[in-house]
Amino acid sequence: MISRRDWLRISATAGAALSLNPRLLAGLQNQEITKAIPSTGEHIPVIGLGGRWISRGSSAEELAGHRAVLNALAEGGAGRLWDTAAGYGAGASEELSGQWAQEDGFADDIFWATKVNVAQGRGGGGGSVDPARVHAQIEQSFQRLRIPVIDLNQVHNMGDPPTQLGVLQEYKESGRIRYIGITTTSANQYDDLEQVMRNYPLDFIGIDYAIDNRGAEERIFPVAQDEGIAVLVYLPFGRSRMWGRIGDRPLPEWAAEFDAHTWAQFMLKFVVAQPAVTVAAPGTGDPEHMVDNIGGGHGRLPTPEHLERMIAWERSLPR
Ligand SMILES: NC(=O)c1ccc[n+]([C@@H]2O[C@H](COP(=O)([O-])OP(=O)(O)OC[C@H]3O[C@@H](n4cnc5c(N)ncnc54)[C@H](OP(=O)(O)O)[C@@H]3O)[C@@H](O)[C@H]2O)c1
Repeated sequence: MISRRDWLRISATAGAALSLNPRLLAGLQNQEITKAIPSTGEHIPVIGLGGRWISRGSSAEELAGHRAVLNALAEGGAGRLWDTAAGYGAGASEELSGQWAQEDGFADDIFWATKVNVAQGRGGGGGSVDPARVHAQIEQSFQRLRIPVIDLNQVHNMGDPPTQLGVLQEYKESGRIRYIGITTTSANQYDDLEQVMRNYPLDFIGIDYAIDNRGAEERIFPVAQDEGIAVLVYLPFGRSRMWGRIGDRPLPEWAAEFDAHTWAQFMLKFVVAQPAVTVAAPGTGDPEHMVDNIGGGHGRLPTPEHLERMIAWERSLPR
């Protein structure tokens, strides 16, 4: 094992960083999988990164790890998605990723996704908000991210969709935001989400989905396909729940049939094999895990028969 600090130093030279662990490198041998954003046909890699853990309270070593993770994400200029939000780390996730992107030169190499929400709270988002505050928060995101155009900005946690989506739509029309959407990771907001998906011109939704959390398959995925909305998956490891359930079990041999070399790749491939899913944003602060996860977006995907087998495997695990 190498330390995260070593990773930061080594990741300055991409090839060297990726040649350190042969098991992880195996995941990158095959072609990277991309999927089309339905509203434009633009293709993006199916594995991105979620960034809600970056905070000002993190240690220097943790921040170095996050910085190396972002450099690994940007490797090769593939345009992989980086998911942050105005609210993550009280702004630190946007601000530090924007600073590192400039200093390390990867601002043009990633697909920038952030979120806006001036409506506090969940469960309907906390009532209606002043559009001026929505504008102000979006402008603050531009400043923190230090980029002229944001690829994707989504309303966070269903906060006042009429007002906040209305403001995002204005930015999209002006060309400063390329895609707009809305997110939730609470099943009790799925009914509201479905209504918004049917009634607003969305490019994306962000939603929780994992091999042991498949509620989105029932109505959300079919509506996304009907309406031509891209699906960005959050919590693809079930907020780390799956790691505890897997424990030290060995990966089944049949995972090699779809080029999954690790448990992370097994779970990510389950998610991105769903026809409605466009991209997944697993969270990690560990550069080796980032490389592992990127490997989950390379090579073959599970067939429908594999997916059935994977579901049976998940059901056989202890709860
Ligand atoms: N409403 C919303 O919009 C909303 C809500 C929640 C989350 N999100 C987004 O979803 C992202 C992901 O959520 P999450 O991070 O809570 O959950 P997650 O992606 O399901 O799981 C993250 C956990 O998995 C571990 N992990 C990641 N890659 C690994 C690997 N290759 N091997 C072993 N362990 C690995 C991480 O630990 P290490 O750090 O040690 O790798 C962490 O403990 C967030 O960052 C955020 O961007 C959005």
